[in-house]
This record gives sequence, structure tokens and C-alpha cells, in this order.
Amino acid sequence: MNNFIFENKTKAIFGKGCVKEYLSCLCKCNCETDTVLLAYGGGSIKKNGVYDEITAAIEKSGKRVAEFSGIMSNPTYAKVQEGARLVRENNVGLILAVGGGSVMDCCKAVSLAARYEGDAWADFWGRPGVIDFEPVPLIVVVTAAGTGSEMNGGAVITNEELKVKTGRDYPQLNPKFALMDPTYTYSVPVRQMISGGFDTLSHIMETYFSAPDEPNVSDDIMEALMRGVIRDLRAAIKDPEDYIARSNLMWEATMAENRVIKLGKKCDFECHQMEHQLGAYTNCNHGEGLAVLHPVYYRHICEHGAKKFARFATKVWDIRPEGRSERELARMGVETLASFIKGIGLPTTLRELGVDESTDLKAIADSCACVPGAYKVMTHEEILEIFRECL
Ligand code: NZQ
Ligand code: ZN
Repeated sequence: MNNFIFENKTKAIFGKGCVKEYLSCLCKCNCETDTVLLAYGGGSIKKNGVYDEITAAIEKSGKRVAEFSGIMSNPTYAKVQEGARLVRENNVGLILAVGGGSVMDCCKAVSLAARYEGDAWADFWGRPGVIDFEPVPLIVVVTAAGTGSEMNGGAVITNEELKVKTGRDYPQLNPKFALMDPTYTYSVPVRQMISGGFDTLSHIMETYFSAPDEPNVSDDIMEALMRGVIRDLRAAIKDPEDYIARSNLMWEATMAENRVIKLGKKCDFECHQMEHQLGAYTNCNHGEGLAVLHPVYYRHICEHGAKKFARFATKVWDIRPEGRSERELARMGVETLASFIKGIGLPTTLRELGVDESTDLKAIADSCACVPGAYKVMTHEEILEIFRECL
């Protein structure tokens, strides 16, 4: 194992009924003023009963509620500024984010921006910054599994004016508590459930396909997690209310992004960088964008990391190695991944995401970062090639 320092400040409370059992007490003990900011997305929580359960818990805690609603998928910096204003105007002492990755990410940024006088985008997302003050305390209630945002300090924000979607991970933005009731995810539309599951798989693959490749605990854990996501996603597609599958998917998503599997690894998240810029220009769905890009990107890099891709084929997809060369196995691993993506109904072309020749793919490719980490450093020309092959 390479050297590392590990800490995760989020306390995870997991399981059926956890919101009812713990939320009221957590609001009472962690809200620094009389007011909790209840933040959510486009309204799914009002249809599935989650809103009622949450507001009842806040009421029981004796705190007042201020609402911050309408957080969109791929949250924008403008929305972050709206939330920061609400926090200041209402003297909010705790932010309660109820939703998927978009709501959680937006609220992490709000918790920082509300306590920062300057331009939070420029100083913390445009470039890496130093948080030398206390952000507003944050508790998250996860309603959609996938991003793993609940147990890290990462917040992916889109600056619409600059056409940049970027994420930074600040340990100070880790939620204090993450409440995870898998039954809350039952109402997630199947298409979004699959997209979230693939996002989780992508997080693991982006980390797995990076140095070091000698035996290490992180790679071993990742192989188990990848097999789990594949198994549980298939089961949840068959029966969306399969508690075993949904609870596993929820924790797999968290495990993929709570920094445990990244220990000692040098991942570059290049496919995510490409997807984020695609999202900045087209507002496409995150997991679906990744599903289209991954096989094509891996066809470009797998020969440079053939040994690891061959291991992926045998350990994750159970492909028998006998009589096959490393290169052949590596290719088979990538093609089996591509068939899996197609088989579970994810899109396989950018066209299905509304992207076509009229989209300025060159501008998107040029705006992507090319960073070392995985087996091959991309160039802007090669990223453009990948985008074109994805059409
Ligand atoms: O807005 P509402 O009405 O709540 O509907 C949402 C939204 O339409 C719906 N939904 C969520 N829970 C539901 C539900 N519908 C019914 N029942 C429920 N229980 O699902 C839709 C998608 O939600 P969203 O939060 O946008 O999806 P996701 O969790 O995939 O988050 C995507 C965002 O997270 C970023 C992505 O880039 C994207 O902006 N990421 C964040 C990461 C992090 N912080 O660590 C890492 C990821 O790589 C990713 O980049
Ligand atoms: Zn992701």
C-alpha cells in the first residue's frame, strides 16, 4: 500500500426507519439557531411521503423550518447563491439536505457560501481554496443512491455563465450526519436508479484502473464492490422493492466515494472530467453520460493497462483466462462491460442524450482537463475522437 492519511467525519446512520428514529434529536442537538433550512429538489419528496416525515421530525425538535426548494439536477452556482442568501436572511443554524447527489452537493456549497464574504465559485471551485472558517452544519437524508455524496466533502457545481461543471472535495464540507433509509429510494424512477447504479460502478472503475497495481487492499475491496453493484442492480431492476438489493446499492454507492477505496490510489477520474464538461454544455444526466463514454474511453486506454483490464475481466466478469492472451482478456473485459450497459437499458450513444453533430464537441473536448493518473494521459484531440465515436 502507498502512504495515506484517512479520516471521514460523517457519521452514517443506515437502515429502514432511521429518519423517524434519529432526525428529530439530531436537529435539536446540531442546529445552532432556531431555524433549520429544509432543502430539496423538484418535489419528489412531496409525492412519496418523505416531506411529511421530515417536517414532522423537525417540528418535534422544536425548530422552525425555512424551505429551499427546486434544486435542479446538475445544480448551478446561481442556485447555490440563492441558498446562501436564504441561510443569511433566516439566520439558519442547520442545513438539512433531502435528496440525491444534486441536492447534497448544492447544500455543501451553500454551507460554505453562506459563511463566505467573497466569490465562493472563484475561490473554491474555479481554483482549489482553503476553508479557514466553519461552514453551516449540514445533515443529509439520502433519497437516491449513486453519487456517494453523503459521506464525502465533494460538491459538483455548474457555472452556467462559464460553461464549467466541476467538483472539489473539501473535508470541511463532509455532512455531520448522513441518514440512509433504503426504502426512501423505492420511488426513484427505474431509469434514474440504473443511472445512479452505473455512477457508482464508474466511481469504482475510475479508481480501480489506476496505479498502483501490485496487490493492495483497495483493489481487493473494489473487486468485491463491483461484483456487488452488478448483482444488486440486476436484482433491483427485476424488483425495485427488493430491500436487499436496494440497501446494498445504497451502501455500495457510499463505499465507492467515502475515500476508503481511494487510499493509496492515484486515480484521475478522466471519464468523469469528460462527462462533467459534457454536462456543462448539454445538461445531460450524469450516470447516463458516463455509461455512453466508458466503453469507448476504455477501448482507447485498455492496451496501456492490459494487465489490470485482464484482471478486471477475470475477477469481476468471471471470464476464464485459459488460452487467452492478456490483451485479448483486456478487450473482453471492456466488451463485457459494454454488453452489461446495453443489457440493463442504459443509453449507448450520445445521440440518445440529445447530443448530435450540431453540438460543439470540439469546444467541450477543449474544455476538459487532461490529468495524469490512469494508464494514459488524454489529449484534447483524443477526447474529441472519443466524443465523435460516442455519437
Ligand atoms: O428533484 P426531485 O424531484 O427530488 O427528483 C430527483 C431528480 O429528478 C429524483 N429523485 C431523487 N430521489 C427520488 C427521486 N425521485 C423519486 N423518488 C426519490 N426518492 O432523481 C432525479 C435525479 O436526482 P439527482 O440528485 O440529480 O441525481 P444524482 O443523485 O445522480 O446526482 C447527480 C449530481 O451529482 C453529481 C453529478 O455530477 C450531478 O450533478 N455528482 C456528485 C458527486 C459527489 N458529490 O461526490 C460525485 C459524482 O461523480 C457526481 O459528479
Ligand atoms: Zn459520478
